[in-house]
Amino acid sequence: MDVFRAIEPLQGFLAERRRGRPVVFVPTMGALHAGHGACVEVAREIPDALVVCSIFVNPTQFGPGEDFDAYPRTLTADVEQLRDWRCDTLFAPAPKVMYPESPRAWVTVDVVSEPMCGRFRPGHFRAVATVVTKLFHIVGPDVAVFGQKDAQQALVVRSLVEQLNMGIELRLCRTVRAADGLALSSRNRYLTPDDRARAAGLYRGLGRARAALEAGERDPAAVERATIASLRADGLDRIDYVELRRADDLCTLERVEGRVILAAAAWVGRTRLIDNMVFDVRATGVVADVTLF
Ligand code: PAJ
Repeated sequence: MDVFRAIEPLQGFLAERRRGRPVVFVPTMGALHAGHGACVEVAREIPDALVVCSIFVNPTQFGPGEDFDAYPRTLTADVEQLRDWRCDTLFAPAPKVMYPESPRAWVTVDVVSEPMCGRFRPGHFRAVATVVTKLFHIVGPDVAVFGQKDAQQALVVRSLVEQLNMGIELRLCRTVRAADGLALSSRNRYLTPDDRARAAGLYRGLGRARAALEAGERDPAAVERATIASLRADGLDRIDYVELRRADDLCTLERVEGRVILAAAAWVGRTRLIDNMVFDVRATGVVADVTLF
């Protein structure tokens, strides 16, 4: 695997190497786990792919008082991991490479950035859209892979690519979970053993929504209440949001119908966790755990 810390050598290398092969890009912030591995696998499945990963802990997407300083940085182990996963090329820039001066140009994606995490992390999706745009310009991918674990982020990136005619194909990767259902996340490293035990309650809460939908509940507020009650019963009482919305554009629903997403963010100790499940709700029944797009 070739590793680049600067933009021009990477671009020279890719220009030389691509020769008609699709460049398939997997952006990450490192502290890699099997969820990232599954994204690389989705990339690897594309015939003849030249798989490029990036590791960059993007400072601008962390709000004041958030965990930018504490965010795990494990580059040496990550490089080994990426080799095992058969990634071809790694771009791991220093902050000064990405932001030689403080940013003055931003990319804003309306609508899908606004609800849910957008309300609790002002500026977050603008910073994600901006850094993803920069990385897309640097790498020039044909295809990019994102995880459904961060469903709102995936919708922001889809809107970005469509609205700005980027001509990049997006592929989604299913959410990889621990045995007890907890979605893998670099932030899970913050959890104490006691937090870790409670954290599985978030997935159980999504399961309660699924049960309510399967029992025929079609009032979005009632489905949300079932999840909230489950989170509280599991000791997750600091809840940022639990929302059931249309999967396509995150609009609110009068009645549950079609493809919908139940998304939640809750705190376990000092760690903020997010998770979601996408359902296809039809007159004939409910299909749980479908892909977002
Ligand atoms: P990061 O949190 O490192 O995630 C990188 C990619 O891995 C994202 O597309 C994310 O959705 C995916 N991912 C994370 N956990 C996953 C899991 N359990 N199962 C499947 N996929 C998972 O998301 C970011 O970094 C950043 O915001 C970034 C897009 C790199 C911009 O800075």
